[in-house]
Amino acid sequence: MSELICAIDVGTTKICALIGELDDDNNLRIIGVGRVPAAGLRRGVVINTAEATAAIGQAVAEAEATANQVMEAAFVGIAGSHINAIGSKGVVAVGRNGRSITREDTLRAQEQARNIALPHNRDIIHTVPRSYTIDDQTGIHDPVGMFGYRLEVDVSIITGASSVVTSLVNCVQSNGVAIKDLVLEPLASAEAVLTDDERQLGVAVVDIGGGTTDLAIYLESAPWHTVVMEIGGDHFIRDVATGLRMPYGKAEALIKQFGHALPSRVPPDAEVRSGAFGETAHQVVNRRILAEILNARAAEVVELILREFKRSGYDELLPAGIVLTGGVSQLAGFAELSRDYLHWPVRVGRPTGIASSVMDLSSPEYATAVGLLLWGLRRGAVHRVAEPPASQFFERVLRWLRNFLPVPGTL
Ligand SMILES: Nc1ncnc2c1ncn2[C@@H]1O[C@H](COP(=O)(O)OP(=O)(O)OP(=O)(O)O)[C@@H](O)[C@H]1O
Ligand SMILES: [Mg+2]
Repeated sequence: MSELICAIDVGTTKICALIGELDDDNNLRIIGVGRVPAAGLRRGVVINTAEATAAIGQAVAEAEATANQVMEAAFVGIAGSHINAIGSKGVVAVGRNGRSITREDTLRAQEQARNIALPHNRDIIHTVPRSYTIDDQTGIHDPVGMFGYRLEVDVSIITGASSVVTSLVNCVQSNGVAIKDLVLEPLASAEAVLTDDERQLGVAVVDIGGGTTDLAIYLESAPWHTVVMEIGGDHFIRDVATGLRMPYGKAEALIKQFGHALPSRVPPDAEVRSGAFGETAHQVVNRRILAEILNARAAEVVELILREFKRSGYDELLPAGIVLTGGVSQLAGFAELSRDYLHWPVRVGRPTGIASSVMDLSSPEYATAVGLLLWGLRRGAVHRVAEPPASQFFERVLRWLRNFLPVPGTL
């Protein structure tokens, strides 16, 4: 018997499935990783069910093959500009004679807070408690065990468009994987990269992926504000591909290897050979010019981030600054540019505190996937599994292969 916890990060550029195992000392070790290029998705939203299902199936199958385990249920990340957050309050009576508040009381209060009129095409993804009030005492984080008569909770209710949520759920479930919980991606990333001190003081995690930039603001250890913006690495790639007239794949490789967000850090005459359209299929690129293209987009991204901070009203309440994560946070000079522009502490956040016997997952690109595992772990959602019979693997592989067969009637 072992204890497993699984996660699927359905990103815009990659799908990453992880299988983690808890050892006897309660340490989590990743034993299965599946990473495949994303398909059928655009900016966090499924746009082609068959392609997205097949890609998710492939990532799950890879993770299962490395772990030699079956992924029965997983924590799944969700993002996209369809996500909305609204504030609400819930109040419950603890009793006329007063008594210690229990976990059930907090859940009842949250249930009350969820009692709001929502349009029929919205689904609640999370009810995030921000703070509690017991009688007249405000600003309580964990009221369990405290004495009182009346318990009030201030929550943030995160909703998503039902059609988008259902499509994602179907794509995962079609692969035989049940969903333990849908988790908003910035909240998952925060689990992997923020320290307790940062959360307590006030910090924002900004995950800049391929298609979206996800933002979550933490105050007094609770997430207070989340935003998903439709801008990311794809925009940088498109700028370079059009500006320097080269295929997308070459532009991405060039950015990763030679890109810089601060042109002044690149010698004016530095040149590299790169791919191109046309007969010769290669060209000499001036790195300063490449940096100028990237700088314009990076400045726009940081400006959009700042605008969201200001709109949230929490921009003055973040002494720990921002923690950048996601693939684009690795762009040379990006953190420095953000620091210069915002005048706040800025660091690049890498997933920490988790061991892997399969591959190195310390890159910021894995913040969401690792964070999903930690989200499950910290909420006690681990399940015991027996060794899978060999036939189950076979069935799973068959099911996955079926994704590539034409749907009857479409040919
Ligand atoms: N060193 C680098 N410099 C610049 N960009 C990079 C670098 N490494 C990765 N990227 C970019 O990061 C993006 C991928 O990041 P990530 O894996 O976090 O995205 P994702 O999770 O698939 O997408 P999303 O979170 O938006 O749904 C790609 O656009 C890639 O080009
Ligand atoms: Mg991502």
